Amino acid sequence: MEELIQSAIQMQDRAYCPYSHFAVGAALQAENGNIYTGCNIESISFSPTCCAERTAFFKAVSEGTRRFRRIAIAGGKKGEKREKTTPCGVCLQVMLEFCDPETFEVILAVSEKEYEVRRLAELLPYGFRPTGLGAGDPAGNRY
Ligand code: THU
Repeated sequence: MEELIQSAIQMQDRAYCPYSHFAVGAALQAENGNIYTGCNIESISFSPTCCAERTAFFKAVSEGTRRFRRIAIAGGKKGEKREKTTPCGVCLQVMLEFCDPETFEVILAVSEKEYEVRRLAELLPYGFRPTGLGAGDPAGNRY
């Protein structure tokens, strides 16, 4: 857990956030133990901005990994104390695509010692699940 949070904290340094100055790092642990990291990447036209969590997920999925255990998130205004950063709705929806909401853990980290663990189902209780279109289990995530 501490190692995962440490990776998320380190990734804050990679954040490209010249507009919000809010730096977010994420570290996603796959079922096989691999860790995929991400940071937020902003755009002058705003809507192309990608959150740290999605960066980590898209890196993992593009590398062939689709089964995940937990994600640690560290965020805060540059130069200020870190604050518990909850994923946005878009990122939660991406998590729901690939993770079992009852078991997947979202770690809201202030430091390696101070953090809160939430299940995805708590953060997105009524999310639109991949089975919603009668698509079965497209990502192989055991729904
Ligand atoms: N952001 C993330 O990367 N993850 C979150 O969980 C919340 C928000 C980013 C998006 C944007 O670059 C900045 O933080 C301010 O919203």
